[in-house]
Amino acid sequence: MDKVLILGASGGIGSALADGFAARGAMVDRLSRSVDGFDVTDAASVERHLAGRGSYDRIVVATGALEIDGAEPEKTIKGLDAAAMLDQFALNAVGPALVLSHAHRLMVRDAPSVLAVLSARVGSIGDNRIGGWISYRAAKAAVNQIVRTASIELARTHKRAALVALHPGTVATAFTQKYVGRHPSVLPAQAAAELIAVMDGLGPEQTGKFFDYSGTEVPW
Ligand SMILES: NC(=O)c1ccc[n+]([C@@H]2O[C@H](COP(=O)([O-])OP(=O)(O)OC[C@H]3O[C@@H](n4cnc5c(N)ncnc54)[C@H](OP(=O)(O)O)[C@@H]3O)[C@@H](O)[C@H]2O)c1
Repeated sequence: MDKVLILGASGGIGSALADGFAARGAMVDRLSRSVDGFDVTDAASVERHLAGRGSYDRIVVATGALEIDGAEPEKTIKGLDAAAMLDQFALNAVGPALVLSHAHRLMVRDAPSVLAVLSARVGSIGDNRIGGWISYRAAKAAVNQIVRTASIELARTHKRAALVALHPGTVATAFTQKYVGRHPSVLPAQAAAELIAVMDGLGPEQTGKFFDYSGTEVPW
């Protein structure tokens, strides 16, 4: 039976992922800020919640936000706010990095395993054609580099592991409520099913890469 850890399990995508893995018989550990006091921006909190755990076949970092403490994403760089930008980095880049600093201990060594960090296509530098949302974009670009770097190091001890960044698509959650507009979106359960299928198809050849919900590689 797969052992799964979902960080941010109270979120729209995180809870659907936890339910999706549980529905196929996995043993799922759920961690979240609102239920367990797990604050991914606080190194001591991350340490406290991740220390002493066994190892997992699947781990998903599903924490994140586009709007933090009411700071909406900037329409242009003229609207930049330094404090809001730092908050974006703390949550969307440093947070997952703190989790990844425990990855070598949390991932099984002798069997295939996958650790996925939910990134976003807007974090792709190569795919950026319209500007805007600079703090969120930059924090996601940073987490992509963090995933890439950690994957290279992890591969030295975890030969069968895949550590990847995943774009979940546009998913109807609290996160997108104000921003989806006329953009087509999918329900969290569908996004979760797609992400689980992508993870099932990953092996060590794919480690350190960035994929979307259909398993297509996204340019950095
Ligand atoms: N929805 C989309 O269309 C979309 C598109 C691209 C990428 N993504 C990415 O997918 C991820 C999940 O998004 P979602 O749509 O599921 O958002 P969501 O429903 O708003 O859930 C966000 C999750 O992040 C957690 N969180 C926020 N700040 C935290 C902190 N300081 N410490 C620990 N947990 C914290 C929340 O925990 P509490 O509620 O317990 O506080 C919640 O579990 C994010 O990284 C987002 O960037 C989403």
